[in-house]
Amino acid sequence: MEHKWWHGKIAYQIYPKSFCDSNGDGFGDLQGIISKLDYLHDLGVELLWISPVYPSPFVDQGYDISDYCNIDPVFGDLATFDRLLSEAKKRNIEIIMDLVLNHCSSEHPWFKKACADLNSEEAGYFYFVKGKDGKKPNNLRSYFGGSVWDKIPGHEQEDIYYSHYFAKAQPDLNWNNPKLREEIFKLVNFWIDRGVRGFRIDAILSIVKDLSFPDLPADSANDGMSHAANMNAKLLDRIGPYLNELKERTFNRADCFTVGEVLTVTKESVKEFAGDHGYFSTLFDLSPREVIESHPHYVEFPTMMPDDYARCVFNTQELYQNTDAFVAPIMENHDEPRGVSYYLPDYLRNATGAKCLGTFLMMLRGIPFIYQGQEIGMTNTEFTSPDDFDDLYAKEEIRYCLECGMSIEESLKIVGRHTRDNARTPVLWDDSANAGFTTGKPWLKVHQDYQHLNVKSQLNDPDSVLNHYKKLIALRKDEALSETFTYGKFERLTLQSGVLAYYRVDDHHKVLIIANTNTTPYSYDLSQDKYFKDSEHTQLKLSANEASLNLEQNNLVLGVGGAAIIQLS
Ligand code: GLC
Repeated sequence: MEHKWWHGKIAYQIYPKSFCDSNGDGFGDLQGIISKLDYLHDLGVELLWISPVYPSPFVDQGYDISDYCNIDPVFGDLATFDRLLSEAKKRNIEIIMDLVLNHCSSEHPWFKKACADLNSEEAGYFYFVKGKDGKKPNNLRSYFGGSVWDKIPGHEQEDIYYSHYFAKAQPDLNWNNPKLREEIFKLVNFWIDRGVRGFRIDAILSIVKDLSFPDLPADSANDGMSHAANMNAKLLDRIGPYLNELKERTFNRADCFTVGEVLTVTKESVKEFAGDHGYFSTLFDLSPREVIESHPHYVEFPTMMPDDYARCVFNTQELYQNTDAFVAPIMENHDEPRGVSYYLPDYLRNATGAKCLGTFLMMLRGIPFIYQGQEIGMTNTEFTSPDDFDDLYAKEEIRYCLECGMSIEESLKIVGRHTRDNARTPVLWDDSANAGFTTGKPWLKVHQDYQHLNVKSQLNDPDSVLNHYKKLIALRKDEALSETFTYGKFERLTLQSGVLAYYRVDDHHKVLIIANTNTTPYSYDLSQDKYFKDSEHTQLKLSANEASLNLEQNNLVLGVGGAAIIQLS
């Protein structure tokens, strides 16, 4: 594996609208991010992925872009963005932008011109397709529910549709059109030339379309449709030429770091998509989300407990192991509920669980991404009324639950557990009004526990989740072990259910990472461990919650939520 400038770095995702508001309008902004750069630097962050800040009508919270080469006034302007870049660089932090290239906003001038004149050049930037036998071109269901096809605005009487794999307000861009691709290269290069060092690439599998627009066999949702993701999976082997061209014309110019939002990753596709010759530098590990979302509606989503989560994570680690690719492990992002509330049993949905799960996650092979608030152990927010939700999909799912005959209370409970709004409630900075996020009215509900769960209270508490994350990051970068944590092999260790364990191994060091998520203490007999040689060289590098290593008896005892990182040789 070629060594790259971004290997061994710690990444952090900011969802700008909810991070920090500098001007009291209730929305986070770029100046707010600048004001917290010292905080991020102290934490150990070196790569900062910023979710979309481009001008947008915010139908899908900025993932519907109406101008790719500007900043939405809600967040600031290009001058503030340049300041963010330079202030970040001063602190050794590189900025990673979000690239949403499968679709734009229906408010983008391209789409407006296209709708105004179906023979315009811009009309060729979209998929404008005639109906088949008086019906829509095919039976695909969009990611947000309903058909991917809608009548073109202003042409409702005609038998012609546009494609949108996501919301109606997110028309799909036609990557078959070389002119559109040139426009895309220009906009990516615009940001590279400004000093951005990388990109997170949104929903990229959706860019390939079969131009005969066939139907697919109906899936399990019982509506005669098939999820658009099924079509993506079928067309996976056709995406290469587009992504190679994108890479050559843009990312390669400046040795950018790129991370793809790519589902359905297989052994074969890892090499193709990530790694030395891959389309991207790395891909997120979205495998737990894939298992959950293989069910059409929230109400059918399975409960994922620590063993299930670990199984997904371990399978991914092994999948990447023998390739030249790095994966990006995550516990949550702006599309998922809080990991502590999702992957842990109820008695660990707290600071103990946050430290336990953080220990498990931060030593995995790859480039770990921390999502804002994860480092203080933010849990799911209590949503008590339909008005508490913002996300378009949450609203769709409330409607579905009610349609299935559930009471409003039951519906709120189900949607509240699974909604991505959980990740989008404001970051909790202190115990003042609105958790110090804004002096105005926050755009989304503030988490109920802000008075004791916040950054300020954790900064000075040596035992806090925040300080635990700092120690984890420092250990990962520890001179003696950083090579092992960055490039060392991953090896799964199977112990009893609820005890999550693995090794990081290279020629120089063997490190055991072990976490107990059960309700009873767990005792591990080190003398049975394959890498344990003698007590003299064994060291407890870091522990969380109750964990004690007794080297006279070669025994490690982990309490409930106890976790440890042990250097065995
Ligand atoms: C990606 C984004 C998500 C967005 C969708 C459509 O999955 O992460 O937030 O809604 O793409 O752009």
